[in-house]
Parts: sequence; C-alpha cells; structure tokens
Amino acid sequence: MRRPVRIAITGAAGSIANSLLFKIASGEMMGKDQPVILQLIEVPQAMEALRGIAMELEDCAYSLLHTITLHDNVEDGFKNTHFALLIGARPRGPGMERSDLLEVNAEIFTRQGRALNNFANRDVKVLVVGNPANTNALIASRNAPDLSPSQFTSLTRLDQNRARGILANHTGASPRDIRRVVIWGNHSPTQYPDLHQATILDRSAMDQIRFDWYTDEYIPKIQFRGGEIIKARGQSSAASAAQGIVDHMRDWVLGTDSGEFVSMGIVSDGSYGIEKGIIYSFPVRCDYGRYQIVQGLELNDFSRERMKATEAELLEEKAMVEHLLPAETAASH
Ligand code: NAD
Ligand code: LMR
Repeated sequence: MRRPVRIAITGAAGSIANSLLFKIASGEMMGKDQPVILQLIEVPQAMEALRGIAMELEDCAYSLLHTITLHDNVEDGFKNTHFALLIGARPRGPGMERSDLLEVNAEIFTRQGRALNNFANRDVKVLVVGNPANTNALIASRNAPDLSPSQFTSLTRLDQNRARGILANHTGASPRDIRRVVIWGNHSPTQYPDLHQATILDRSAMDQIRFDWYTDEYIPKIQFRGGEIIKARGQSSAASAAQGIVDHMRDWVLGTDSGEFVSMGIVSDGSYGIEKGIIYSFPVRCDYGRYQIVQGLELNDFSRERMKATEAELLEEKAMVEHLLPAETAASH
C-alpha cells in the first residue's frame, strides 16, 4: 500500500464538500490504491456540523480513508498538506454577480495564501473553487511568495463538463465520445466555451452543429448555467461542482487521457496573447503531476474576440484587488 497523502479542504461542512468528501474517501480522486488523510477546515460556528460529517465518513468504513482531522483555522489545517481544495467562501445568492463577492472573499484568500506559504508541503497543489475562483486563486498565490504560482489553479472543469454534457444531449452522442472542448478565461459569464477543436466521434464538432445554435444558444447556456442552477435550486451547484473538482485533481495528479486535453484556471505565461500573471483557463495536458498549456491551436477572429473579453474581465477583477496583491517575487519560476 502507498503512503497516505494529505488533503486539506476548506468549507468542509458546506454543500459541495458534502458530495466531495465521500468521493475522495472512496478513491475516485486520487486513485483506488492511494490512502488519504483528510484535514477538514471550517469556520468555528460550523465545527459541530463538521463533526457530524466526520462521523458519517467513519461510518462508511472506507478502506482508503486513513485519518480525518478537524480544524477551525487554516494555519493548523494546512500543515504539511500535499493538496489544498479551497472551497469555503461566501457563496453567490440570487441576483449577485461574482464581482460582488470580490471584496468579501479577498480577505479569506489572503489569509489562506499566507497559511499555505507557511505551513503546507512545499509541493502542495492548490485548487480554488470558492468564487470568484480565478481572482481568489490569484490572491492566494500572490500571498504565498515561497510557492510557485504554477501550484495554484482554479476550477473551470465544471464548465467543461457542462459543455460536454449539453453538447452530448443536443447531438445525441455520448459525453464519452466528445473530446477537446475548451473553456477559455474566467469562471463567469464571460468565459468562452470553444468547440473549434472539439470532436464528436473523431469528427469535427463544428461540422455537426449549426453555427447559430452554437452562438445564440449553446455559448450563453454554458456561460449562465451557474446562475440558472442558483435560480432553480435556491443555492449554487454542489454535486456537479464536486464532480468537477474530482476530475480536475485526478487529471492533474494522474494525467490526462492520451489525445485529450482539459481546461484549468492557471497562471498565464502569455500564451495565446493572454496577459501574463492572471489566472486564466487554458487547455492543458497533464503528466506526472505537471500540466502544460496546449500550444498551436488555430484561433479565428470569433474566438480571439471572446478570449479577449474574458481576459478584460479578469484584468478588471485584478485591478479591484490590486491593493491586496503583494509584489511578485522570485518564486515565479
Ligand atoms: P456552502 O455555503 O454550502 O459552503 C461553504 C462552507 O464554507 C460553509 O460551510 C462555510 O461555513 C465555509 N466557510 C466559509 N468561509 C470559510 C473559511 N474562511 N474557512 C473555512 N470554511 C469557510 O457553499 P458551497 O455550495 O459548498 O460553495 C462553496 C463555494 O464554491 C462558493 O463560493 C461557490 O460560489 C463556489 N462554487 C464554485 C464553482 C466553480 O465551478 N468554481 C462551482 C460551484 C460553487
Ligand atoms: C457554478 O458555476 O455553478 C457556480 O460558480 C455558481 C456560483 O456562481 O456560485
């Protein structure tokens, strides 16, 4: 049996975690031969609820679940952790845009970045889920000067899964047969779900759909899906977000399927003309715990325009939190 890995999770008594923790403990995320130690973190008021979840996890008798520890602060909770899933945040309610959440959540992610810097394993892999996820990831990363910005990612895999699921439904294909869907940019309504490189059963997806359906129905449906779910459920997506987290981390750690690429919010290195330093969703391939941006994709004017629009929103968000971003340091390797 392998040595257990430590996974710290904030917001561990919340809705997403309520689906996620059971998937992780059953081996869906790190592999069926990888024991895990769960370091569960909540705000002090939610510790009793968290204790209840820990009891339920214990009662499932998962053989891969080595230990559970409970923490009411990130400084303890992030100690020596190999993975950090930053889910806890103030969620968006009906009628609120993600930018409304910027100030409220910026403080949380500043503290979390510092705590990761000071207490986590030096190779920690971080996924930010709490919204606005891209900019929160930027804040956390910039407050962790001894870690590389490449260790910080944000979740757009849920958007990618939505894009595949909805396309499958429209065309009658199985999601399994749909590959190379790309989400560019922000996890927000400006994101650009791009089907120009996508295939359905190895044939161009764009040749199998009408362009006006793509522009007028499909793109907005993916962009506004999160808000639609909030309207319908009265709270944001939870089980599907948990699935996106599992898919993101599994591929990052264990590698992407051959020939496939996946979308992750990562620090921009200037690829495709996107401003360096912002956390932007790119298509990547993962291998041996590392990711690389897929290069050389052909982009038409339609795509470029949309990629720029979502970049502009991220630059605006960055400007709004600039005062919380310490200067970049040597760790930007
Ligand atoms: P939730 O309100 O059900 O749970 C959040 C939990 O986080 C609560 O239990 C709360 O006590 C805890 N929390 C708040 N601040 C904390 C902190 N500083 N440290 C530790 N715990 C803290 O919300 P949820 O439905 O689980 O969603 C969590 C976040 O994920 C929200 O910001 C939501 O907008 C976001 N989200 C992102 C995506 C994505 O694709 N990126 C998808 C769905 C939801
Ligand atoms: C989602 O995409 O479902 C979430 O990000 C919803 C939200 O905005 O909280």
